[in-house]
Amino acid sequence: MALALSVGAALDALSLSLAIRLRYQPRMAHADLLFAELNEGLDCKSYLIASQSAREAILVDPLEDKVDRYIQVLSDQRLSLLLALDTHTHADHLSGSRTLVERLGGKTAGSPSGSVHLPLHEGDVLTLGQLSIRVWSTPGHTADSLSLLLDDRVLSADTLLIGATGRTDLPTGDTATEWESLTRLMSLPDDTLVFPGHDYAQKTHSTIGYERANNKRYTLGREAFIAAMSEPRKTKPALIDRALPHNTRPL
Ligand SMILES: [Fe+2]
Repeated sequence: MALALSVGAALDALSLSLAIRLRYQPRMAHADLLFAELNEGLDCKSYLIASQSAREAILVDPLEDKVDRYIQVLSDQRLSLLLALDTHTHADHLSGSRTLVERLGGKTAGSPSGSVHLPLHEGDVLTLGQLSIRVWSTPGHTADSLSLLLDDRVLSADTLLIGATGRTDLPTGDTATEWESLTRLMSLPDDTLVFPGHDYAQKTHSTIGYERANNKRYTLGREAFIAAMSEPRKTKPALIDRALPHNTRPL
């Protein structure tokens, strides 16, 4: 069932701070979009999606230990929090979504479905000012993984990384399903900007066209991809034993 979430309320338009401007990707973006990655060089990415006209924001995959920073950014930009949205059940970090909503209002959204106010599913559409965000279910890294499509870009979470893909050996992960989701994302137009949930080489974004041609896992093809991703991993995320209980606790 498609979900339409309307956001109203216009506040005075403000010029953006230099810090936000530097991270805004204006190439084909909607004029109403304010977009930024907020973790400043960390491997783990958290994104601000906001409507300049409505002055309302969605924070995607916020980290618990960065909540104070996000609140400062929202305050600086005179943005109110609509949703704190997790793209999947994170095993590597503690989600800050619930703390943000407790401090600022708004709702938690996305995944896991039993732990958020507003579970999101395939085909849902979030409306934020003049912006529309389409939700794709892209399981594989986890069963509840979502991707967010917005105008000229996709937030691909841990399904599609820059030059790589998310691991599939963690709880609810599935390699063959990951391939299907990856293939679906690769069906987007070449110039679609890709903003992943992680990057380990200080890269900020890629494009679907580049990833389709160069992603070292996608270019393996299905059978070799499944074989490679099925190799046992020597390590697990350092915080997994704290992160999973924290991120899946019921409302
Ligand atoms: Fe993940």
